[in-house]
Amino acid sequence: MHVVTLIPGDGIGPEITKAVTDIFAAAQVPVQWEEQNAGQTTFDQSGELIPNALLKSLEKNKVALKGPITTPVGKGFRSINVTLRQKYDLYQNVRPSRTTPGIKTRYEGIDLVLFRENTEGLYSGLEMWDERLGIADAVARVTVEGSRKICRAAFAYAAKHGRKKVTLAHKANIIKMAGTLMINACKEASLEFPEIVFEDKIIDNMCMQLVGKPEQFDVIVTTNLFGDLLSDLCAGLVGGLGVVAGANIGDNMAIFEAVHGSAPDIAGQGKANPTALLRSAIMMLHHIGEHAKAEQIDKALEATLMNQEECTGDLGGKASTSQFAQSIIAKL
Ligand code: NAI
Ligand code: MG
Repeated sequence: MHVVTLIPGDGIGPEITKAVTDIFAAAQVPVQWEEQNAGQTTFDQSGELIPNALLKSLEKNKVALKGPITTPVGKGFRSINVTLRQKYDLYQNVRPSRTTPGIKTRYEGIDLVLFRENTEGLYSGLEMWDERLGIADAVARVTVEGSRKICRAAFAYAAKHGRKKVTLAHKANIIKMAGTLMINACKEASLEFPEIVFEDKIIDNMCMQLVGKPEQFDVIVTTNLFGDLLSDLCAGLVGGLGVVAGANIGDNMAIFEAVHGSAPDIAGQGKANPTALLRSAIMMLHHIGEHAKAEQIDKALEATLMNQEECTGDLGGKASTSQFAQSIIAKL
């Protein structure tokens, strides 16, 4: 039995995590959930934004499934998602996007995996406000070590999964020093993996190429903010935020979570698509070595996605979150 920390999160979080835990129970997955939470709700109840019990649970289990957590815009507390990624050095944010049979989109044949650096760049938290001069600085701190780690991880993943090419997206023409570190790190990694083709593209061109001819991309590696933006863009190419999985991976811990946020516009209405979180949970099963269970659930999910009526509204269907989960369970 694997003990896994479960963080339901905010907004649609509890609805989609329930769908996943129901499907896991029906599939008799040998996972025992240890439920912990963080964010405004836990603060209101206990006075703690990130309860110590959650940190202890993460440190003990080293693997978690996490729902989205709301972060206030502007004033207010710092993102709990970013805090956890930095605290545990979860430097890889791995976000696969692929065309799925049954999901109607404008594109075909997309199968790419985005590696977003997850602890540095403009998310370093180095912000300064000079009231007198009316100047705000946000420092995009990039380190040689951090760049090496994410670039090497992208190449190693490509080699392990039989992928052919790694594309680095950067803005080193303008951000000359911080931008160049990733280019150097990728060149270094590509010496170690000569069978993988390496190319780099400037981020603005990359955006155009992605919406124009996305099937040309295989593994993409990029800095934190660009990765955040590109992953929502890629989600839009393959069916939306409701279907794209993600994982925050470090050398000692992994937290699996969808790309999307807490979706306050549809929270509490049974409209959320649990596919993104379920796919994250399937990634988690592979991570803990439960490959057969991962494939069993994946098959049932793919079969359900083939039938639009059984899907949620974002995919053109009429099913609620729990009805969609029941359709998957029926196919296990
Ligand atoms: P969002 O990703 O929550 O929603 C964007 C749009 O996609 C909305 O129209 C929403 O209804 C839709 N959507 C998202 N997930 C869906 C799903 N599973 N099924 C169907 N439709 C779905 O982004 P937004 O609204 O910009 O952010 C809301 C909150 O989430 C913010 O507080 C933000 O900080 C937080 N957030 C948290 C993340 C995390 O915990 N890792 C990641 C991204 C945002
Ligand atoms: Mg994002």
